[in-house]
Amino acid sequence: MSHRPQRPGPATPAPGKLPLTELAEMKRRGQPIVMVTAYDHPSGSVANAAGVDLVLVGDSAATVMLGYDSTVPVSMDEMVMLTRATTRGATRPLVVADLPFMSYQTDDRDAILAAGRMVKEGGADAVKVEGAGTTLQRIAAITGAGMPVMGHLGLTPQTATVLGGYKAQGRNALSALALVRDASAIEAAGAFALVLECVPPTVARAISERLTIPTIGIGAGSGTDGQVLVYHDLLGLGEVKPPRVVEQYADLRSAAIEGVRRYAADVRDRSFPAARHEYTMPVDEAEAFADALLPANPVVGEI
Ligand code: KIV
Repeated sequence: MSHRPQRPGPATPAPGKLPLTELAEMKRRGQPIVMVTAYDHPSGSVANAAGVDLVLVGDSAATVMLGYDSTVPVSMDEMVMLTRATTRGATRPLVVADLPFMSYQTDDRDAILAAGRMVKEGGADAVKVEGAGTTLQRIAAITGAGMPVMGHLGLTPQTATVLGGYKAQGRNALSALALVRDASAIEAAGAFALVLECVPPTVARAISERLTIPTIGIGAGSGTDGQVLVYHDLLGLGEVKPPRVVEQYADLRSAAIEGVRRYAADVRDRSFPAARHEYTMPVDEAEAFADALLPANPVVGEI
């Protein structure tokens, strides 16, 4: 009996899938890495068709998909379900799933089990965790268990309260140096890449130059090795205007509202559905049906 895996797992990339090791090569070549968030099958398949390198099933799903007011409440079950839907659509990019708040902070065992669910049930290629400190040990533990980990420094939304709110980090020399030190520690712990969120470009550039693993920036300027944007922000799908670090490339919310408004108006004035939306019946069958419905016909009583 063959013990070769029937389905490609995290160690065997699916055909056409970007190998994880290619990301470090891209950094070496100076080739920018493109990451976008996605949360379900439609957004995963859009990211796939658009040819991005990495898809992040971010815990930003909490706000943009599930209507929570922060990333804190989203559960493991919710993230696994969203990850599974995304990986069905995003078959070529590497898919990284965020481990939600309190799924990895407690201890290494919890962290490994949470990462394992994302990989086994969600089909993710890798997971992302926030911060340094005790997270360093979790990165080493998850990597040691055979699952790639992406780090995340700067504005770390899961612990925004501790940071004093959703604001840029590393804006003085001391905190900037702490970020440089933490970034090196994350690389040493075994992470394959690092997200830098809302830090001054000089700090992001200094970190990117020191690390051999790629940095992916959001609100961190042009000196990082790649960029990430939230799907709903870049496509203009959100209810509120995205932060100024975002470039909005489409206005799909306005287009969607306009489309639903036109549909409602057409239903109300009976212009939808039209003849072209109907299924036809062969004429003889329609006649037989009409005959059968006549009150004199005994078939009517049997219906
Ligand atoms: O959850 C998310 O979408 C993120 C990105 C903003 C990096 O962590």
